[in-house]
Amino acid sequence: MQKTPTVLVTGGCGFIGANFVRLLRQQRPQWRLINLDKLTYAGNLNNLTGIQDGPGYRFVRADICDTAAIEGLFTGEGIDMVVHFAAESHVDRSITGPAAFIETNIVGTFTLLEAARRHWLDGEGKPAAGTRFLHVSTDEVYGSLGEEGFFSETTAYDPRSPYSASKASSDHLVSAYFHTYGLPTLITNCSNNYGPYQFPEKLIPLILRNAMQEKPLPVYGDGRNIRDWLYVGDHCEAVLEVLERGLPGRSYNIGGNNEKMNIEVVTLICDILDRRLGLPEKGMTRRSLITFVRDRLGHDRRYAIDAARIREELGWQPKVAFEDGIEMTVDWYLANQDWVEAVVDGSYQEYYTKMYGDR
Ligand code: NAD
Ligand code: DAU
Repeated sequence: MQKTPTVLVTGGCGFIGANFVRLLRQQRPQWRLINLDKLTYAGNLNNLTGIQDGPGYRFVRADICDTAAIEGLFTGEGIDMVVHFAAESHVDRSITGPAAFIETNIVGTFTLLEAARRHWLDGEGKPAAGTRFLHVSTDEVYGSLGEEGFFSETTAYDPRSPYSASKASSDHLVSAYFHTYGLPTLITNCSNNYGPYQFPEKLIPLILRNAMQEKPLPVYGDGRNIRDWLYVGDHCEAVLEVLERGLPGRSYNIGGNNEKMNIEVVTLICDILDRRLGLPEKGMTRRSLITFVRDRLGHDRRYAIDAARIREELGWQPKVAFEDGIEMTVDWYLANQDWVEAVVDGSYQEYYTKMYGDR
């Protein structure tokens, strides 16, 4: 009989990680899930209300760079699989403060790979049955597209921000551990996600928050940069497919086939909120709050994913159309304004530090 797997999810209190923890508890309730998160400004246990510690689930507050903590988990919990979301994830922060990106995204990934290598490979370099290391990465490793073309898994890496360079470095380390040691690794490179629990520093939740509060809506440059938007639930389902059925050593691009200019996304949010909440003033729509501001340094122009491999090999494709996903997201943020304000002012972190200590 096959052993019930124990999965270590890193960064499970962040935006995508929390959505993935919820999906896994729902769809694989028999699996044991360890959620390891440092609870940085971007991680909140309130993203996981309703998910309680018990035989099938445990939360551990720790840093992925902390070798002793990671080693302790591999030894004590018998980890079979790792799904690695934990990262510094915001491009603008990487421009103003790159050091944390190097530490968490590169050194942290290295620390996890080393633990998996020590615990999963036998004397001949053969991996223990059922072991998998899935590294969640980004389409930004491929750089920036012009008006034509798509990123495929064979597109050469060309990262252009400290964030994407740190993710590219971690991807290379993961590939190296497959080729050198035979560690059963997988990589996913996904496009821009949106949906519930996204920290309001990223475009969609930031615009939503400001537009609800009738504050200026900052659009970088000319607003014509293009992103390929994917609903977070679709991304999480893709990650689970790759975890269970992906071929070790392979990477899989994940995208929404849904390219939008930033200005299109911002005006759409304005129009939905005008319908939901009414106009801010008679004759004034929320579009009038749009303010073009100084461009992001090195701002990538266009991302677009060719997701043929995951579609053809694993049968995955997005289920949620952008028009529906954005309406659901607007409704979620309208219903969860307390969550938004608490994550912005950091009051949750103080509370969890009291509960769990500094680490
Ligand atoms: P996020 O910033 O919302 O969450 C990151 C989580 O990692 C937080 O819970 C944080 O506390 C935790 N964390 C940060 N540093 C840590 C450390 N040193 N040790 C332990 N935990 C730490 O990020 P997200 O948007 O959910 O992204 C998750 C992953 O998906 C990242 O690896 C990111 O590169 C990748 N990704 C994100 C997107 C997107 O659109 N958001 C798209 C493609 C790929
Ligand atoms: O492509 C995947 C990546 O998507 C992930 O790897 C990153 O973790 C995630 O943060 C996201 O990166 P982007 O830089 O594309 O996302 P962001 O939401 O920061 O910005 C989206 C676009 O909107 C980008 O062109 C910059 C622009 N923007 C952003 C903000 C925050 C604005 O015009 N105004 C803003 O205030």
